[in-house]
Amino acid sequence: MDALAAIHQRASISKVKAAPLPRALVEELLSAAVQAPNHHKVRPWRFVVLSGAARQRLGAVMAESLRQRKPETPPEGLQAEAAKALRAPLVIAVGVDLPSEPKVVEIENICAAAAAAENLLLAAQALGLAAMWRTGPGASDPAVKAFLGLSPDQPLIAFIYIGYPEFELPPPERPGFADRTTWME
Ligand SMILES: Cc1cc2nc3c(=O)[nH]c(=O)nc-3n(C[C@H](O)[C@H](O)[C@H](O)COP(=O)(O)O)c2cc1C
Repeated sequence: MDALAAIHQRASISKVKAAPLPRALVEELLSAAVQAPNHHKVRPWRFVVLSGAARQRLGAVMAESLRQRKPETPPEGLQAEAAKALRAPLVIAVGVDLPSEPKVVEIENICAAAAAAENLLLAAQALGLAAMWRTGPGASDPAVKAFLGLSPDQPLIAFIYIGYPEFELPPPERPGFADRTTWME
């Protein structure tokens, strides 16, 4: 699949098969991710690859995060929150390094990590996988970040859920660029 086809055909897919992905395929995704542009070549992205029982541990942390935020959540709500991490056989969390020198700017590191996340989605599309970028309130919780090895002030910008698609989707129809574009000559 060429790059433009992957870009135009990519769509968020929430339902995927439970079959695990081979390690080599996951490494292809990560390799695509790190081709993203990044100012000062600081490579500010951090990936945490969760599969198998690690997703259960993530789910438990997310449920506890919800319980802390909303103590009134009934047990079924907490169970549902914990189960979200099991929606795909692979979850890749994307964190961002904070600047460590004055010339490096936080927003640029976040942009670079977001570009890496998009590269990963496009690679998944090109490889016939289904993927979805998610965040949610748990992504700002220091306890969730700590579980992933991130410090409280490091942005956690994505949980990318990836698996083999349950079914083929038609190419998505999206609004065009015209109303978001100004041409200057
Ligand atoms: C930074 C970011 C965070 C997102 N967080 C969520 C989320 O928490 N839950 C969700 O259902 N989708 C989330 N999405 C996916 C968008 O909802 C999705 O891209 C949008 O609905 C457009 O659909 P498409 O990807 O098929 O074009 C997120 C996307 C981005 C870029």
